[in-house]
Amino acid sequence: MEFAFTKGTSSITVSWPDGQSTEYPFFWLRDNCQCPACFHPATHERLLFTAAIDPDIDPKSFTATDDGFTILWDEGEGHESVFTADWLYHNAIVAPKGGTVRASATLWDVNSLNELPMFDYADCLGDDKSLLRWCSSLRSIGVAIIRNMPKKDGAVIDFADHVGYVHDTIYDRLHNVFSDPDAYNLASTSEELKPHTDMPNYFSPPGVQLLHFLENEAEGGETTLVDGYQAAQQLKSEDADAYDILAKTDVGFRLASSKGDIIGHAPLIEVNNRGQINTIRYSNQLMLPLMIPAAEVKGFYDAYRKFTQLLNAPDNLVKFKTRSGDMVAVHNHRVLHGRTAFKPASGARHLQLTYLDFDLVMSRLRQQRLNEIGEDKTVERFY
Ligand code: OGA
Ligand code: ZN
Ligand code: ZN
Repeated sequence: MEFAFTKGTSSITVSWPDGQSTEYPFFWLRDNCQCPACFHPATHERLLFTAAIDPDIDPKSFTATDDGFTILWDEGEGHESVFTADWLYHNAIVAPKGGTVRASATLWDVNSLNELPMFDYADCLGDDKSLLRWCSSLRSIGVAIIRNMPKKDGAVIDFADHVGYVHDTIYDRLHNVFSDPDAYNLASTSEELKPHTDMPNYFSPPGVQLLHFLENEAEGGETTLVDGYQAAQQLKSEDADAYDILAKTDVGFRLASSKGDIIGHAPLIEVNNRGQINTIRYSNQLMLPLMIPAAEVKGFYDAYRKFTQLLNAPDNLVKFKTRSGDMVAVHNHRVLHGRTAFKPASGARHLQLTYLDFDLVMSRLRQQRLNEIGEDKTVERFY
């Protein structure tokens, strides 16, 4: 890689071919020495104890090489660190560029999203490349549908175990959804379920939800999906104050059953320190009474109403009828799912669901990169 560098009093600045430059403070460079004494080559873990580095560490000498530079540190008997421009580029300190969502997320435009990403069950099980495309779709669009899955009890668990392993929750690990006269939650009635995320009552809600339709022959019961990131971004551009309220107000959610009583508090739009949305939590039915000062209540509900309207706007909502044997996977930190009401007497409707961590999907993608290029350098630090 073409590069140029300038040594300053406390850092080295590298200029890249695209005209950008990145500053690397000496302490940072010393802390990230990649030599086998400082960084274990096999385990990818730091051996060097960061807090023991001299806070004012300085290079004794600095030598350019063909593909980077070498620093001899003014430390004990001297210690040498070799950096390549390539490594520095892929580990740049500056976070990926701003925006309301991660660069990897392609926001939906429902009018041009003519077809949802569809995959074939046999392909995904038989061929790693197809499974990786499924993972990639979950990462970029937040949804991936598999057709022709066996209409077999528990097949969704086998699939989760094929990708990684199940993320257990307060529900049964294999959760059955059908219209039940003794319904214990709304999903087990034949009522409409407005778009929601599952398990917002956990401090870490499961990242992926798998909904396997064993039978979907009843009249109605269409699936609805909406891109929570897109709706949040729209809210931000239409009413930045409302967005801020939802990003800053902790809301409690509760799901209680004979198996436990789980309560979590977090903002509906959870944003990281770079201003990018991490997690959307939204479940009107599980939300606890707000615990905020009275003077803030109206502002919150106004913001909540606006966000809700965007989440339910026909222009933002995808609505379709799944076939028996379909499995819908959604990124549960981003995409909300729901269903229209159905008529139980008109035909059978039975789905089984389970959860998976989104980290496992990302892990699959990272490992694939490792296999492709045979080394660690392009593993994405952010998703
Ligand atoms: C659920 C759910 C959707 C459906 O059980 O959490 O969203 O299609 N079900 O029944
Ligand atoms: Zn070292
Ligand atoms: Zn749900």
